[in-house]
Amino acid sequence: MQKPGHVFGRDAEWAGLVSFAADARPGATLGVVSGRRRQGKSYLLQSLAVSMGGIYFPALELTEAVSLRLFADELIRFSGRPVPQFRDWLEAIPYLFGLGDDRPVPVVIDEFPSLVKASPGLPSIIQRELGPGGSGAASRARLLLCGSAMSVMGRLLSGGAPLRGRASLELVVQPFGYRDAARFWGISDPRLAVLVHSVVGGTPAYRREFLRDDVPVGIADFDDWVVRTVLNTQTALFREARYLLAEETEIRDPLLYHSVLSAVATGNATSGGIANYVGRKANEITHPITVLEDSRLLVREPDLFRTGRARYRIAEPLITFYQAVMSRDWARLERGEAPAVWPGARARFLSQVVGPHFESLCREFAITAGDDVFGGPPGEVGGGVVADPANRTQIEIDVAVLAPADHGRPRRILSLGEVKWDRVMDASHLDRLSRARDLLAVKGFDTQGTVLACYCGAGFAPDLQAARDRTDVALIDLDQIYS
Ligand SMILES: Nc1ncnc2c1ncn2[C@@H]1O[C@H](COP(=O)(O)OP(=O)(O)OP(=O)(O)O)[C@@H](O)[C@H]1O
Ligand SMILES: [Mg+2]
Repeated sequence: MQKPGHVFGRDAEWAGLVSFAADARPGATLGVVSGRRRQGKSYLLQSLAVSMGGIYFPALELTEAVSLRLFADELIRFSGRPVPQFRDWLEAIPYLFGLGDDRPVPVVIDEFPSLVKASPGLPSIIQRELGPGGSGAASRARLLLCGSAMSVMGRLLSGGAPLRGRASLELVVQPFGYRDAARFWGISDPRLAVLVHSVVGGTPAYRREFLRDDVPVGIADFDDWVVRTVLNTQTALFREARYLLAEETEIRDPLLYHSVLSAVATGNATSGGIANYVGRKANEITHPITVLEDSRLLVREPDLFRTGRARYRIAEPLITFYQAVMSRDWARLERGEAPAVWPGARARFLSQVVGPHFESLCREFAITAGDDVFGGPPGEVGGGVVADPANRTQIEIDVAVLAPADHGRPRRILSLGEVKWDRVMDASHLDRLSRARDLLAVKGFDTQGTVLACYCGAGFAPDLQAARDRTDVALIDLDQIYS
């Protein structure tokens, strides 16, 4: 089953969906598709239903009776036959399963959480009909439940929930990775790609519906692009960061949540740092942090060299951009003063947004790096802090690459890396990494083959270039990161 040409990327997702939906064995099956808003779940599932001649039912927030009527309409369209009026889902689901008995038929119920709001018993009904003696036994319906409220979709399959253990496909549609995002935006200059990704990340809808394909034509157009798009009150992107939080979390009191995100966006990224910045006790921020993690807006990244320590990262670049750049000038931006605001915010954009964002791109590069880059397959990639007691200081490692753990053996460090976006790197950076390598060897890590990696967006000074041929040194530039 060929992926339609208009669907960009998503090869693995498409393959998984097709293999689920085309399975010819008898017995209805269940798949669950989730992912944050606007990542392309509906787009993908609609394309699947069209390609395979299936059913696509987009649920709305309506009463059960109205939803059932719309559902029946969808079944009429599919079968070309009259469909009885359903009194409840107890009638509708067995009828649905009766339709798909001669060939596998994908049946997509999109926005499933909206349906469950009006019909809380629906998951149990589906469970029963899928189970032994249920109407699904002779059916080849491939039921796909889709929704974006991560908290709701997560609960659907967790703990004592009726559908737990029933789904044979669980697909989470993620934002495009940074390389795919650049191709999706049609940007071939890696410098421009990093800047654009720092603002809009890998959410496909931001290019299409939100900005109607307004793409910066070159690096010289970037500042103007920012002013006419994300900082422009007339675009849908302008308020998106504020809406995102409300939509993804279903929280009532956004104040504390915005403050937590603001803390992380301004570099106060440990739980202590967040509590301090927000002005609350550590135990008062555990709940908001958990909610933000569950809705995939915040990611906890453990310190690879200090057990128990971790830093948080905002998963959606647009939120970082909003918190670091837009929130403090909100009133002026709303008055349409973006052209005056942006020049004053640009330095903050580079230091608080692009700098840290580029570090996370380099970590993404490292986790997907081929064996040749670090002399083996990466097992774990992250940041870490190495204490240097003799010099009374700490060395921060931006990109640490560990080999997969090997029981009973010292952990092998494949690479230690430093990242700079807009400053030329020189041999002093290499010296620091080399010092960290020595300290980690003393702590019991295996540093025999550790590659010292310099990731830089601005170039390498001659004294660093001179080390290029050393087998334990890697100078990684933007072209390599995007290749
Ligand atoms: N693979 C893709 N190729 C091309 N365009 C895409 C792709 N995925 C998404 N888009 C674009 O992004 C838009 C948003 O996607 P879609 O509505 O499917 O997201 P969603 O995950 O269903 O969001 P929501 O949770 O808000 O319903 C699409 O209308 C389309 O323009
Ligand atoms: Mg959708």
